[in-house]
Amino acid sequence: MILQVASLIVGVLTLLRPVLSEQLAFPGAEGFGRYATGGRGGSVYTVTNLKDSGPGSLRDAVSKTDRIVVFAVGGTINIESRIVVSKSVTILGQTAPGGGITTYGNGWSFSNADNTIARYIRIRMGKGGDARKDGIALAEGSNMIFDHLSVTWGRDETFSISGDVSNITIQNSIIGQGLEPHSCGGLIQTDGGVSLFRNLYIDNKTRNPKVKGKNDFTNNVVYNWGGGGAYIAGDSDGKSSANIIGNYFISGPSSSGGAFTRGNANFNGYVLDNFYDPNKNGALDGTALGASSSNYGGMALASTKFDYPAPEKILGATDAVAHVLSSVGASKVRDPVDTLLINEVKSWGKNGKLISDEKASPVNGPGVVASGAAAKDSDGDGIPDDTETKLGSSPSVADSIEVKDGYTNVENWANSLVPSSY
Ligand SMILES: *[C@@H]1O[C@H](CO)[C@@H](O)[C@H](O)[C@H]1NC(C)=O
Ligand SMILES: *[C@@H]1O[C@H](CO)[C@@H](O)[C@H](O)[C@H]1NC(C)=O
Repeated sequence: MILQVASLIVGVLTLLRPVLSEQLAFPGAEGFGRYATGGRGGSVYTVTNLKDSGPGSLRDAVSKTDRIVVFAVGGTINIESRIVVSKSVTILGQTAPGGGITTYGNGWSFSNADNTIARYIRIRMGKGGDARKDGIALAEGSNMIFDHLSVTWGRDETFSISGDVSNITIQNSIIGQGLEPHSCGGLIQTDGGVSLFRNLYIDNKTRNPKVKGKNDFTNNVVYNWGGGGAYIAGDSDGKSSANIIGNYFISGPSSSGGAFTRGNANFNGYVLDNFYDPNKNGALDGTALGASSSNYGGMALASTKFDYPAPEKILGATDAVAHVLSSVGASKVRDPVDTLLINEVKSWGKNGKLISDEKASPVNGPGVVASGAAAKDSDGDGIPDDTETKLGSSPSVADSIEVKDGYTNVENWANSLVPSSY
């Protein structure tokens, strides 16, 4: 009897225990993809070299499910074919020493990579990458969060989401310089929910982004779009429901036309506090876009906000610019490309260019990323010895996947290396 009661109590407690999926992917994870679990519960894989493939390479690391990937090396990984990420993988680029990690030469696929967490990586595709492919392609899958990525030089789109995709967040990331002739920021089209928070769309002729479906576009900066348009509002027969809040659109040398285009009555936008600076005069002096359909490319304006998972803090558009410029992209260490892009924005309309070849001036390729020195990791569990002592884990026991406060030790270490709130 007592045993039965005890087991009943245990059963009830088990039911009451918060479901694992309520755990944020990391402190500061927001939007539709915030509950991605990544490789938690799996094993830790340490990337130890900059080779394109083979043991210790990034490609090998993300090729199997249920892994948390950390780095004992920094620098540029030249990739010939596309990197394909498996389900339930966490990629913690901020753990890399030196200047962090850049992949160059082709793009990545996150299609079907359900439950991905990807942070602090530069994904630079380039002219040598597969024709008609994207910098990042996501054509199927759910529950993913992309944070502090720098994605450039897509041959088709730069970061593209379409198809049967749900619960995705792209936050604090740079999506820029899609290569001409296509030169697109990206299609973001799914009914499954995509949050785009505090990103920088820069130097794309068109699709900065092109949105369809269920979308939350908050506190982004869009700079120097080309003749194809900045925010493209669906332009379709399908229904779209989007929040568009606190964004800043800044024209650059390549820009013509307004901040919004190609909306119709099928596109319902809840719009608030969006700013537009069209004058290319070297100062940030835009004004708020009045809430009329004509200022928003002809979309239908919704009177109430769509009930989507919002950022904890919604900034005014001008504050969003300052925040984005200081922290967007793989900004633990900014590389020459991101530095160039950020400086273009800071010219407030004077500088900026659509490019067709990343190797030519002014970009001159991916630049040099410092390798740094791998820290001592005596137990080989992915966490450096000196950090283990601080974290309260053991430098002589492989205990990096033990969970404390909802995160594994290795995640707690990675989370401690970067800001946790915005
Ligand atoms: C997306 O997230 C919502 C809310 O957390 C959840 O109810 C839904 O099942 C998720 N969809 C998928 C495909 O995981
Ligand atoms: C913007 O992105 C697209 C595609 O992703 C790319 O082709 C284009 O060159 C980029 N830049 C400009 C200025 O159009």
